[in-house]
Amino acid sequence: MPKKNVKNIVLPHSQAKLDLYRDYLNEYLPVLMNTPYVSHINVYDVFCGAGVYTDGKYGSPLIAAECINANIEVAEKRGDSATTSISLTVNDLDAGKVEFVGQKLTELSENRFKTTPLNMTATKMFELVKDETSRFTNRHRSLVFVDPYGYSDITKENLFGLLQTRKTEVILFLPVSNLYRFTDAAQTNIDDKSFEPLRRFLYEFFSEDSRMMTSEVKNIYDYINEVRKAFSFDGSFYSSAYYIKRDRTNHYALFFIGPHIYGLEKFLQAKWKNDSLGQGFDVRYSAPSLFGGGLDEVDIYNTKSKLESCIKEKISNSPYISNVELYEYILVMQFLPNHAKSIFDNLVSTGLLEIYDDKLVLQGKVRGYYLTYGNYSKKSNILKFKLRTKNGTI
Ligand SMILES: C[S@@+](CC[C@H](N)C(=O)[O-])C[C@H]1O[C@@H](n2cnc3c(N)ncnc32)[C@H](O)[C@@H]1O
Repeated sequence: MPKKNVKNIVLPHSQAKLDLYRDYLNEYLPVLMNTPYVSHINVYDVFCGAGVYTDGKYGSPLIAAECINANIEVAEKRGDSATTSISLTVNDLDAGKVEFVGQKLTELSENRFKTTPLNMTATKMFELVKDETSRFTNRHRSLVFVDPYGYSDITKENLFGLLQTRKTEVILFLPVSNLYRFTDAAQTNIDDKSFEPLRRFLYEFFSEDSRMMTSEVKNIYDYINEVRKAFSFDGSFYSSAYYIKRDRTNHYALFFIGPHIYGLEKFLQAKWKNDSLGQGFDVRYSAPSLFGGGLDEVDIYNTKSKLESCIKEKISNSPYISNVELYEYILVMQFLPNHAKSIFDNLVSTGLLEIYDDKLVLQGKVRGYYLTYGNYSKKSNILKFKLRTKNGTI
């Protein structure tokens, strides 16, 4: 059992991180378990901790175990239990935590899925995941949770090593306020060794003429968005960020990086479930009764209006854009198809948007607008979208 520490309880911002991790697993595990193309799912937790806090709440490794169990149970009830094997590999530098969490995982898993507790440095663990995943067959998919105290182990090489097979999704938690606060100082005080990990992070992920390096980043949200974009590895992967605000000066972010649009959709579903404001988790807002109805205004302003302007710009720049292209665009802009549907309804009702079928026959409002992964994967370009020009002609 790791040393008892009375302060080792789950603070609201950590709870927000764990809630999102749980929701993401519960969104994505059933998808992977239900597809005939996947026979093995491997969940890795690079910095797992002890698994249980002193207030009894579960940390990431036990949350993953609970989600796996719950989803196996659902599959068993449906009668297709033995089709997908699942493994959970957890690691921590602290041997006491690993021993404790290993026992807990054995109890929870009841041999329904394989558990492997490891006690190595994060650097070694990153190598292990890279090696293992590169030997897997095409029928494996992996999810890696990376929850360090800082960012010194988050190198471009380590992250890319996890993602390189394009069969892995990464969820990474970072204390972004620390990065944000010292970004200018790290570039200016080049002899200050305490800035070395941050300097390394910045120079690896950003070019010298980028907004990040030329002090053009306006605020913490802009900063998080720049980091998110850098984590796309020049557009090779989809990326997303969920902001977690602990107080006025401390922000964290949970980043998603993955090769598959459906993984992004599942992360965004988890994100929006926890993020009705469109601004991430904010400790102040976690007790909504204190703020009453004001929240709805923030919500509408920060979600719909932003998406509406993005959609209008996109359609106006690409007349006759298809439902398949718009599905991907909406997700890449960090929104869900559901958010877009009501915007399309409004634009059609007010005569601003014209929707055609593939034979260019004008349609009215269309239920759902075919903005689904099913249509995306089959490249079913069923609809074409065009903004109405001023004189009303096509
Ligand atoms: C933020 S905590 C993880 C919390 C855990 N994910 C949870 O949800 O409860 C970070 C963990 O990383 C471990 N750690 C610190 N440095 C490490 C390193 N170099 N390699 C591996 N683990 C490390 C610590 O012992 C600590 O348990």
